[in-house]
Amino acid sequence: MGSFKIRKILLLDGVDAICATKLEAAGLEVTIKPKLSKDDLLKEIQNYEGVVVRSATQITAEVLAAGTRLQMVGRAGVGTDNIDVDAATRRGVLVMNTPTGNTISAAEHTCALICSLGRCLPQACESLKGGVWDRKKFMGNELYGKTLAIIGLGRIGREVAHRMQAFNMTCIGYDPFVSAAAAAEWNIEALPLDEIWPRADYITVHTPLLPHTRNLLGEEVLMTKCKPGVKVVNVARGGIVDEAALLRALEAGRCGGAGLDVFTTEPPTDYALCRHPKVVCTPHLGASTFEAQERVAEELADQMVSAVSGGPIAGL
Ligand code: NAD
Ligand code: MLT
Repeated sequence: MGSFKIRKILLLDGVDAICATKLEAAGLEVTIKPKLSKDDLLKEIQNYEGVVVRSATQITAEVLAAGTRLQMVGRAGVGTDNIDVDAATRRGVLVMNTPTGNTISAAEHTCALICSLGRCLPQACESLKGGVWDRKKFMGNELYGKTLAIIGLGRIGREVAHRMQAFNMTCIGYDPFVSAAAAAEWNIEALPLDEIWPRADYITVHTPLLPHTRNLLGEEVLMTKCKPGVKVVNVARGGIVDEAALLRALEAGRCGGAGLDVFTTEPPTDYALCRHPKVVCTPHLGASTFEAQERVAEELADQMVSAVSGGPIAGL
């Protein structure tokens, strides 16, 4: 065994069973629990050297302090916003995520929202299920020849571009850390944000939520810089699109629709945005496929076993 002295691991948030199977096969003792209340987690965490979560459980500084034996926190997914990584680092606790396992699922979910927005699919479906045969109300637009702006040209952003180009959408994009040449390899024209807003028919965001990406799409951008009728998609993190500004832009008709998988507060405390007739929304389902969940759970187990047995360490 390596420098980690890990025997007991707590698996939370319904992480796929393959994770437990692989950890146990490596001789680790695994306890599976659903999402615990904050108080129960604070009591329970002291019994484990490792914990595995999805996005529901918050591994705060308080939880880390209570986890006196904790050496490793595994995140079965990309975003680590539910883990206080700085506090973990200060305590010498390794935090590892699985950045690639759910890329395809999140990209496909984004494309599904774009298609749904173009053709009012959920609204027409709901209407028909209610016994109303209305072919006039749900006129759509082709995606063919429209311009898709992708903000954040990382793993998911690029896969979205690749797929939407099959619909003959023109892809433009912005990422301060991706060169124009690298973007061009994915047939994406890299542009500064001020040139993106007036050209985009659809905007999809694929950045992490950081101080400089919070409210990236806010009042000014939505109300004055974007093309009237622009449609906005967020399968990244709630808060990148300013929810209050988006609702105002939808109500004013400046924004023609929004596809939302993520919210500033999850579950939302205010459903006004979800209930807007031009909003297509899902409860953070971007990575919720059997394939992605199995992949991230397996990758995480492999990474943990490798670290525990003195092999390469994948960490943040
Ligand atoms: P990634 O790290 O591969 O890509 C993120 C990109 O954002 C990077 O290329 C980075 O340079 C860029 N970026 C950073 N700041 C920027 C800015 N100010 N403007 C434009 N670009 C900027 O990450 P990814 O795997 O593609 O994931 C993207 C996001 O999707 C993350 O927030 C992740 O948590 C989220 N996600 C959500 C789901 C879901 O279930 N809804 C699933 C997977 C990932
Ligand atoms: C992620 O960051 O990986 C996503 O939010 C997906 C998830 O964990 O459900």
